[in-house]
Amino acid sequence: MSEVRNPATGEVVAEVVGASVAETDAAIGRAARAYESWRNVPPGERGRLLRRFAAEVDAHLEELARLEVRNAGHTIGNARWEAGNVRDVLDYYAGAPERLTGRQIPVAGGLDVTFHEPLGVVGVIVPWNFPMPIAGWGFAPALAAGNTVVLKPAELTPLTALRLAELAREAGLPEDVFTVLPGSGSVVGERFVTHPAVRKVCFTGSTEVGTRIMAGCAEQVKRVTLELGGKSANLVFADADLERAAASAPAAVFDNAGQDCCARSRILVQRPVYDRFLELLEPAVRAFRVADPATETAEMGPLISAGHRDRVAGYVDGATVAFTGSRPDGPGFWHAPTVLLADSPADRHWREEIFGPVVSVLPFDDEADAIRLANDTEYGLSGSIWTRDVGRAVRVARAVEAGNLSVNSHSSVRYWTPFGGMKRSGLGRELGPDALHAFTDVKNVFISTEE
Ligand code: TAP
Repeated sequence: MSEVRNPATGEVVAEVVGASVAETDAAIGRAARAYESWRNVPPGERGRLLRRFAAEVDAHLEELARLEVRNAGHTIGNARWEAGNVRDVLDYYAGAPERLTGRQIPVAGGLDVTFHEPLGVVGVIVPWNFPMPIAGWGFAPALAAGNTVVLKPAELTPLTALRLAELAREAGLPEDVFTVLPGSGSVVGERFVTHPAVRKVCFTGSTEVGTRIMAGCAEQVKRVTLELGGKSANLVFADADLERAAASAPAAVFDNAGQDCCARSRILVQRPVYDRFLELLEPAVRAFRVADPATETAEMGPLISAGHRDRVAGYVDGATVAFTGSRPDGPGFWHAPTVLLADSPADRHWREEIFGPVVSVLPFDDEADAIRLANDTEYGLSGSIWTRDVGRAVRVARAVEAGNLSVNSHSSVRYWTPFGGMKRSGLGRELGPDALHAFTDVKNVFISTEE
């Protein structure tokens, strides 16, 4: 039994019983049996069921959003977007079953065709920072491709996933096609890796755990998708629209209290505009509204737990603080938005993923210097480039080693475009038109036409 707390108050909001190894095995067994019929549900019918699941999510959007505010401390605005994202991802992949076409390849003496076969049971392991969207990015394409899914939410944030599983049943998805198994990573998550009937693991979380999961999956040549950590750069060139770059920089790192793998947590500013940029950044950070996440106007809520807040605070101790924003007093796991000046790229707060509302700023000299500093990290998830020079925007976008870049903007996630990391930020891509194929294996069939 584990206690689920409201991070804004520290109060216990629910108690959830974690699954044991035996219960996990039983659920995987049921999912394996359900796969035999789910894979044969006609494509149009599978699509229709997923659209009905999307409609159920839409009908309960406000309820799901409020649940996430209580469980994860997300602002109500963000939580509504997150529930809407689950609906949209389901709708998007609901169009996939009828379009999962293979090829016909010219050969002598017969007909050669390919099929995208589902894998079987897919295990989805979800972190606490975006419980709803990350779950949907795994289960929606997996189900659309004909797999059944067992999903483990993070121990800290199981409530919305459990509700989504109920909504799936209410939408008419057959029993055991989509199962949510709360529990700890070392029990339930680990069993997804070691159980031979789970044919793929879709993991989002820390690079450390992801590395171990990949090694575990290798033993059974199990398919794996990894979405891991990040330390993304926000590159501000001297010719940029500095006002816009500074005004948008706080949300690019402090959104979701910085607990975002895509957080632009390293700001690199070209030397001639470094002082001016900081002058513009300061009022934007001070104005960032950190408040009770249930308030409509809140832009940032608390951190997920007391332990995580202490870990984040550890990066600020002894560092050069340029300025900070505000935070509410009283209970809850709050940390004010904080801007640190990096003395050098060797600073711990410059190199490590803090996963909190802390951003580090460093000047650079020229384009080559900016690219070198941006790439001087083990991670490669996302990043932003601010410049009015189109040629430079394209050159830098091609040179920065990251899977998701934006120019004169900080957007990185759209459900219909691919998302994922380079280097130690991950393996494989989620979302977009190709994600479905990551939940299938290609089968080639030759049919002789010889008499
Ligand atoms: P982790 O500690 O890695 O936990 C992630 C999930 O894995 C949790 O459900 C956890 O279970 C489970 N887990 C832990 N140990 C496991 C094991 N040995 N075997 C199987 N599963 C195990 O990460 P976190 O601290 O929750 O999440 C933050 C990290 O996620 C950050 O590094 C962040 O950058 C990354 N992240 C990446 C992305 C993308 S898209 N690249 C998106 C969001 C977050 P418990 O319930 O027991 O903790």
